[in-house]
Amino acid sequence: MRLTRRQLVIGTPALLGACAMSVDSGDDTATPSLPSPAPERAPEPAEWTPPGTEDEAAFAWGLQSGDATAGAVLLSVRSTHTELTIVVVEASGDGWVELTRQQVTRSDEAVQLEVTGLQPDTAYRWVVLGPDDTRSRIGRFRSALGPDGWRVIEIGATCCLGGNEPWPSLSLAALADLDLFILAGDTVYADNAVALEEYRGYWRAALSTEGLRALTARTSIIGSWDDHEVGNNWTAETLAPGQFDAALLAYRESLPQRAGPTGGIWRTLSWGAVADVYVLDCRGERAAPDQYISAEQLTWIKEQVSASTARFKIIVTSVPISDYFDMLGTAQIDDRWQGYPAQRDDLLTALGSVPGVLWLGGDFHMGAVASLDPPGSGGPAEGQWEVLVGPAGSTLNVLAELYEDTTGQFPVLFAAWNVTRLRLDPGTGEVRVTFVGDDGAPIDQILLML
Ligand SMILES: [Fe+2]
Repeated sequence: MRLTRRQLVIGTPALLGACAMSVDSGDDTATPSLPSPAPERAPEPAEWTPPGTEDEAAFAWGLQSGDATAGAVLLSVRSTHTELTIVVVEASGDGWVELTRQQVTRSDEAVQLEVTGLQPDTAYRWVVLGPDDTRSRIGRFRSALGPDGWRVIEIGATCCLGGNEPWPSLSLAALADLDLFILAGDTVYADNAVALEEYRGYWRAALSTEGLRALTARTSIIGSWDDHEVGNNWTAETLAPGQFDAALLAYRESLPQRAGPTGGIWRTLSWGAVADVYVLDCRGERAAPDQYISAEQLTWIKEQVSASTARFKIIVTSVPISDYFDMLGTAQIDDRWQGYPAQRDDLLTALGSVPGVLWLGGDFHMGAVASLDPPGSGGPAEGQWEVLVGPAGSTLNVLAELYEDTTGQFPVLFAAWNVTRLRLDPGTGEVRVTFVGDDGAPIDQILLML
């Protein structure tokens, strides 16, 4: 592992000044003309201690929360027990008050429910009670910011968990009490699965592995998928009847999530005035020879991001959108946006000049920060950045170490297992990106000005 510590500031001062005008201080007369840091998150109360004893065996697959909004969250739990009670408590002053207590009967792989009535930007804890005073471990999540919510937010992200169990970087990320965590695809490598029970087997193994178990208990997840949740480089022609639906069900019952506008994976999660998070589905809607995402998805992402009033627009793309031609030529070009140049050009022409856009890509088994188009290339998105997250466990891509970056397109480029942490300050437009390795030390970091 190459260990370097740098701190770079990259951005466009003119853009930064323009964006500062959109600061919502809650008082129109006080709108600053210069960037000023947004407030930090208020501390959470001391830990909540529920009654009962943790039964690790009965709740071996942990707790999952997903797609938190300002008023609701999706919870998911597996257990050997059938009759369960889910308790959610809400931060109030220095302590916790019970928000809801629901008895549920597990009739399938997982119990999932949506808890509503949350307060925006608030801390929650939850636990699942079994019989005889037993319980799960304690879960934590935060509700999203309300429409005017304005503070620094901290996000974690990674992808590609194909080895290196128990994923130490995930356990470390769990300790950071993040606002949310993005799993950008290839969370499982279910390449030999066809039937639902086979897919579920892969997910049970992943969810019960300590890194993921610790992480999903400690923050809500926004999940996307790449190919391995269904099958390696799958296409519609390579799947058996029913296989796609089995893979999709197993995925959704493991990483609870909302259906997008057409029922698919692509969707938006809002974190107030600070960030809109857009999850693309770069695998499920491909159609040869030139469709990477459906026309509906392409129109949606262009319109939504262009119209967003959030300070940051985070676009999760499981496969990179940056121009990797100098590094990779045309090798495996189908596995990145460049293999679909018409749609890539269309998308970047529409979004290339939208301020505050940050792309989060995965799949390449290397960490990177990349200018979407090489500096000086004249490409439509020369001024935008993609943070390539992961891998947390898959085979490391040695190209990251071998490649000589002569254009300055990749201010960060390395091959090591990691979780990416992003600290977004909507007041200054700063995004501090830190890649944290399995030993907890920063592998690299950079300060982007968006
Ligand atoms: Fe992968």
